Amino acid sequence: MARLALVTGGMGGLGEAICIKLAALGYKVVTTYSPGSTKAGEWLTNMNNMGYGFRGAECDVADFDSCKACFESVTNDVGPVDVLVNNAGITRDMTFKRMTKADWDAVIRTNLDSVFNTTKQVLDGMVERKWGRIVNVSSLNGIKGAFGQTNYAAAKAGMHGFTKSLALEVARSGVTVNTISPGYIGTKMVLSIPREVLDSKILPQIPMNRLGKPEEIAGLIAYLCSEEAAFVTGANISINGGQHMF
Ligand code: CAA
Ligand code: NAP
Repeated sequence: MARLALVTGGMGGLGEAICIKLAALGYKVVTTYSPGSTKAGEWLTNMNNMGYGFRGAECDVADFDSCKACFESVTNDVGPVDVLVNNAGITRDMTFKRMTKADWDAVIRTNLDSVFNTTKQVLDGMVERKWGRIVNVSSLNGIKGAFGQTNYAAAKAGMHGFTKSLALEVARSGVTVNTISPGYIGTKMVLSIPREVLDSKILPQIPMNRLGKPEEIAGLIAYLCSEEAAFVTGANISINGGQHMF
């Protein structure tokens, strides 16, 4: 029977490519959308007109109760989640001098608390069924830091601490937990960086001299979700065009 994959933020730049890839590999795919989203209905209609058969589920990943309600309804309506891709995320880039407590909280809650909020809903079931895949979408900037991203880099680095610890706890249960750390990929998150900063400060640091493509991220995630990746756990896999090697 087809496994069920839930992708948070699956209607965004990376998320859409991840949903498409997993569907192409035969997974049933559910994607979350933010409460009050004005584009979710149209996105689902367009994608399903192309034959993908995606389901949408409203969820504020920053809010534990919203995640609980979302995953309960997905489990009841579609089935238990076998694959969880924690992809939803935001930026509030600014120098620390200008950053407010609200900017800090928004990023930590959406990018890091979310990983607890969603994983909590699926882990026991995965362990009971002795199979599961959790992939946390972190960032190059969680590894190396980035000007204007104290909040984002802290959240993304925290994500991998979570990955390593949980991977140890469930290693004997057929459940793998991994992080991927993409560099700069051509989505609206990156394209909203001021053009001058992108051209002068970021692109020159990428040895491949281009932004990554969402499909390249989706391919890596698909591998981590596969049967063949059963021995990969607690890893943090970089995918950044050679921008940072460690
Ligand atoms: N490295 C070094 N210096 C930098 C810099 C950088 N990456 N970015 C900006 N600066 C410098 C500027 O050159 C400028 O220097 P001077 O005062 O000497 O001229 C100074 O910092 C202030 O720059 P701004 O005028 O741009 O200041 P600002 O307060 O208006 O904006 C900022 C600051 C919000 C950080 C803005 O520069 C910015 O958006 N930078 C891009 C941040 C970034 O890379 N975000 C990544 C988003 S994509 C992502 O997050 C995906 C992922 O995971 C990889
Ligand atoms: P994006 O196009 O802005 O998509 C982000 C997605 O997250 C959107 O679908 C958004 O949904 C969802 N989201 C935001 N806040 C949410 C919340 N509170 N609850 C539920 N969903 C929420 O960004 P992207 O480039 O695809 O980024 C996806 C992930 O990759 C992020 O975690 C990002 O940090 C990471 N990443 C991106 C890059 C890059 O270069 N693009 C590099 C490294 C890592 P709504 O629009 O409905 O709010």
